[in-house]
Amino acid sequence: MKNNKIFVACDSTNISKIKNIINKTKNSKLIIGYKFGLEFLNSKKGRNFISNLKNEIIFADLKLHDIPNTCVSTIKAIKDLKINYLTIHISSGLKALSSAKKASGRIKLIGVTVLTSLDNKALKEIGFNKDVKKLVLHQAKLAAKAKLDAIVCSAQEVNLVKKVFKKEIITPGIRFDNSKNDQKRIMTPKQAYNNGSDWLVIGRPITKGNIKKNINNLLNHLNQ
Ligand code: C5P
Repeated sequence: MKNNKIFVACDSTNISKIKNIINKTKNSKLIIGYKFGLEFLNSKKGRNFISNLKNEIIFADLKLHDIPNTCVSTIKAIKDLKINYLTIHISSGLKALSSAKKASGRIKLIGVTVLTSLDNKALKEIGFNKDVKKLVLHQAKLAAKAKLDAIVCSAQEVNLVKKVFKKEIITPGIRFDNSKNDQKRIMTPKQAYNNGSDWLVIGRPITKGNIKKNINNLLNHLNQ
C-alpha cells in the first residue's frame, strides 16, 4: 500500500478549510498530492496560497479547453507557480495538445478524456455518436500521439486506455460507498488500483465530514 498515490481534490475557496485538508490528509502510508481546480484557482487568495506551498506535489486542474494560442499563453501565465501537473481537455484538438506539451516544459501535461460525470446518455445529448468507452479509447490514442505525460479517465476505462497509452493514468470518480454525488462512472479505490490506475483523485469522500476518519476508512478499505 506504501506506493498508493492519491490526489486529494481541494475543492473549496476557504483557505483554512484547504489548510485543514492538507494537515489532516498527511500520513506515512500513502503518497499524497493536492489538486486545485477551477474553484480554488479562481478564488481571490487561491493562487497566492499555492505560490507559498513548499514540498508538495501540486496538480493544477485548469482543464484547458481552447484554441492552441490561448492554451499556450495560459500555460506561460501559470508557470510562476511551481506546479507538477496540469490538465488540458483532449477535445481541444491535436494542435492544441502538441503546442501545450511544448510550452509546458517540466510540468506534466495531463489529457482529460470524457468527464467522469458523463455517461452514454449525456454524450448523446452533447452530440457525440461514440459511446463512452470508444470515445475514451479514441482520445487516449490522440493523447499518445501528442506525447502527453498522463491521462485522466474513469477507473472503468483503465484497461482499455492502457492498451494505447503507456504513461501515467489518473482516475477520478472514486467512491467508497453508493453516494455518487454528480459522478456517473465510479469505482472503489481498490478496484481502481487493481485495474491499474497510477493515481486516484478523491475529493468529497475524503474532504467532507471527518477527514482523519475518512482517511482511516480508506486505509482499512485498501488493506482488506
Ligand atoms: O469530490 P469528487 O471525488 O467527486 O471530486 C473529483 C474531482 O476530480 C473534482 O475536483 C473534479 O473536478 C475532478 N475531475 C473529475 N472528473 C474528471 C476530471 C476531473 O471528477 N474527468
